[in-house]
Amino acid sequence: MSDITVSEITKSFDDREILHGVSFTVASGDFLSITGESGSGKSTLLGIMGGVLRPDGGKVMIGDVDVASLPEKDLAKLRRTRLGYVYQFFNLIPTMTVRENILLPLILDGKKPSLYRDRFDELTSFTHLTAVLDAYPETLSGGEQQRVAILRALIHDPEVILLDEPTGNLDSENARAVMTLLSDLNAKYGVTVVQVTHSEQGAAYGNRTITIKDGALL
Ligand SMILES: Nc1ncnc2c1ncn2[C@@H]1O[C@H](COP(=O)(O)OP(=O)(O)OP(=O)(O)O)[C@@H](O)[C@H]1O
Ligand SMILES: [Mg+2]
Repeated sequence: MSDITVSEITKSFDDREILHGVSFTVASGDFLSITGESGSGKSTLLGIMGGVLRPDGGKVMIGDVDVASLPEKDLAKLRRTRLGYVYQFFNLIPTMTVRENILLPLILDGKKPSLYRDRFDELTSFTHLTAVLDAYPETLSGGEQQRVAILRALIHDPEVILLDEPTGNLDSENARAVMTLLSDLNAKYGVTVVQVTHSEQGAAYGNRTITIKDGALL
């Protein structure tokens, strides 16, 4: 299992510096919440932690892997094996059904979906998605799409899960189901969870909260 070390991350867009040297550590098995105002740089930071965005300076180590400078091919491999990532705006594949979207990390990694049948059934039923498995994302509600994106990040049993506002579109029952799922994975299997959240209730599921303000940690 792997600690995550974020050191001195800087990132600019169009000559405007968004992150000014952010450093912190997430111990293996932690459940960390990242809060902060809209526009403070949370999604940028999470994207850099997950190798979705490249920083201008600094390092992100997941165990002994330097995510920030990993070649694209190795990043893709990391994402379909050890890492689960949930985008704020889901990024589902429109031409694939819900079932195919959820199974995607397995298929990309050459694993047999049938070996993950029980996990798939359990996850989809727990998050109330059983009825929409053969539908396409555009026919789903925002909350349904969000749950599909979350399951796609969990199906391959990653050791680290990064989520950008995972309950932003969910009603309270589904939000509770998702947070319970994450807490269980964290408590029972030691999965490291890092979530960006606006919700105090959501943040409380974690064991630690950090706040980002104007691109720096408070
Ligand atoms: N690709 C981009 N190009 C230009 N500017 C960007 C880009 N991505 C983010 N920004 C800017 O960086 C700042 C931080 O954005 P970010 O998405 O990280 O904020 P956030 O804390 O996640 O906000 P929210 O809570 O609204 O999701 C914003 O001012 C945003 O406009
Ligand atoms: Mg954001």
